[in-house]
Amino acid sequence: MEQFLLLLIFAGTTCALSIVPETKCDAIQIIVSCAPVPGATVYIQLMTNATGYVLEFNKNLPGHDIKVFIVKNGKVKIRESYRNRTEFFIDTGTLKITDVEEDDAGQYTLKAYKPNGEFVQMLSFTLNVKGKDSRSIDISIPAVVGVLILILVGCVVWKLKPCRKTGYQTLN
Ligand SMILES: *[C@@H]1O[C@H](CO)[C@@H](O)[C@H](O)[C@H]1NC(C)=O
Ligand SMILES: *[C@@H]1O[C@H](CO)[C@@H](O)[C@H](O)[C@H]1NC(C)=O
Repeated sequence: MEQFLLLLIFAGTTCALSIVPETKCDAIQIIVSCAPVPGATVYIQLMTNATGYVLEFNKNLPGHDIKVFIVKNGKVKIRESYRNRTEFFIDTGTLKITDVEEDDAGQYTLKAYKPNGEFVQMLSFTLNVKGKDSRSIDISIPAVVGVLILILVGCVVWKLKPCRKTGYQTLN
């Protein structure tokens, strides 16, 4: 029984830890806002197909822009501070950010050019990162606490039984 509960809590914890929420956003025709939770993976479609374009993707801060990535000659160059958790897929025009941080929230702008430098299009969108009260945490913590309480009760009952027996024996 104890082993089963241990297995249960192990499985439960592993399961809760492995759920990384995924958010898909379409920046081409935004209908709802793009709002992943912190720690989530977000896919943002910026173009249907970016093959053959020169791209510049910036985060817009008051007074200046931060260059997040550029695409030139079919090669993606990502800013150092984003490199570990950012990918841009040219053939699907999709930006993927893993482990989204609250600092990632803000406005972003994509500019697309033809290889000869001719401006093609500009697209802006806002990324909202939801507060820390993510759903996966809401669900997993009570579940883990519940199983822990079960184990505790099981242990106490298990420990009390032999005690009571020895008590009767000494009385006899
Ligand atoms: C990216 O990952 C490498 C290896 O995991 C690490 O050494 C480096 O510090 C990371 N860079 C950033 C900006 O987080
Ligand atoms: C994007 O366009 C290129 C060139 O036109 C094409 O080879 C590629 O298959 C397209 N990718 C997708 C996902 O449609």
